[in-house]
Amino acid sequence: MSLLITNIGELVTNDPELGVLSDAAVVADGDRVAWVGPAAAAPAADERLDARGAAVIPGFVDSHAHLVFAGDRAGEFAARMNGEPYTGGGIRTTVAATRAATDDELLASAQRLVREMRRQGTTTVEIKSGYGLSVEDEVRSLRVARQLTAETTFLGAHVVPAEYTDDPDGYVRLVSGPMLEAVTPYARWVDVFCDRGAFDGDQARTILTAGAQAGLQLRVHANQLVAGPGVQLAVELGAASADHCTHLSDADVAALAGSDTVATLLPGAEFSTRSPYPDARRLLDAGVTVALATDCNPGSSYTSSMAFCLALAVREMRMTPAEALWAATAGGARALRRDDVGVVRPGARADLVVLDAPSYLHLAYRPGVPLITTTLHDGVPL
Ligand code: NIG
Ligand code: FE
Repeated sequence: MSLLITNIGELVTNDPELGVLSDAAVVADGDRVAWVGPAAAAPAADERLDARGAAVIPGFVDSHAHLVFAGDRAGEFAARMNGEPYTGGGIRTTVAATRAATDDELLASAQRLVREMRRQGTTTVEIKSGYGLSVEDEVRSLRVARQLTAETTFLGAHVVPAEYTDDPDGYVRLVSGPMLEAVTPYARWVDVFCDRGAFDGDQARTILTAGAQAGLQLRVHANQLVAGPGVQLAVELGAASADHCTHLSDADVAALAGSDTVATLLPGAEFSTRSPYPDARRLLDAGVTVALATDCNPGSSYTSSMAFCLALAVREMRMTPAEALWAATAGGARALRRDDVGVVRPGARADLVVLDAPSYLHLAYRPGVPLITTTLHDGVPL
């Protein structure tokens, strides 16, 4: 089945750069883009979708989300808004709730969040484990994630669970040994929260190296709370992405600039923890590839909206609307080492979003407004 989307007032292709076309059309054949060009020259197709002059963008690529969990932490959020700092300590609260939930409950709740994301234009999502923290509960979490996305990430090294408080190195051995072995069939990526109160550089190196040996690719929660070793470790080990990048030294920025490691910025976390935003301009001006993602999780960033993160990036992090849209689509694809998403060109996945607006600029210009008319995922309109 082929589908012609025509009368596109403004089409963002990300091919090359932002690649903005006026009066354009796209043909999807099955789950792939088959043709892109001027509306007047569009070939015939089985079905037709009239965009009526609206803007069309590539589906958002949310390259960082923690969707497999139970419970919420609204009380912790309220306490923060009353002056309490964010330390990551609440992760253990979610671990307890997640362990107590059934597989069906975990799947239903993660599925609900994925649907929420789709309605808001996200067509690719990465999903991490990290609220199980036992062999059985991490396997369960990744099995659930696997039902919802191909981009699954093992985050057994989120924090040291309560039962290992007195033996953190024993937990590192568990994560990099039997736990890793058990989850490998369900994971594409391995991630470590390398930060104050979580794992130090040596522990992170042990786990990431073991993950790489098991055939997983690397991503790192780095430099969210303090300027620690995470970013440079990510670069040294060839990680696809260093995520958060809130507290960076000049050496961190230089390391990122000279590497293929994407800096994934998560402004929803700074919003929800009332922390200073990362310095996106410093990264972009140094030539670092920047991605934007939601970090959707019940503790530090309970938003599923890429448009909200994009608006924050523009208003609070001085990214231009063009930089922010690229980072939320093509940037996310780079962070997942994918060339078939985040771009509209023949051969790419037919993941497209029709906006209720004449230009992508409205995503940041009209914050909080539901501007998604139709999301096409693998060629199928939602
Ligand atoms: O990316 N920083 C570590 N992990 C999550 C927060 C998890 C939580 O607070 O539950 C993050 O912000
Ligand atoms: Fe995270």
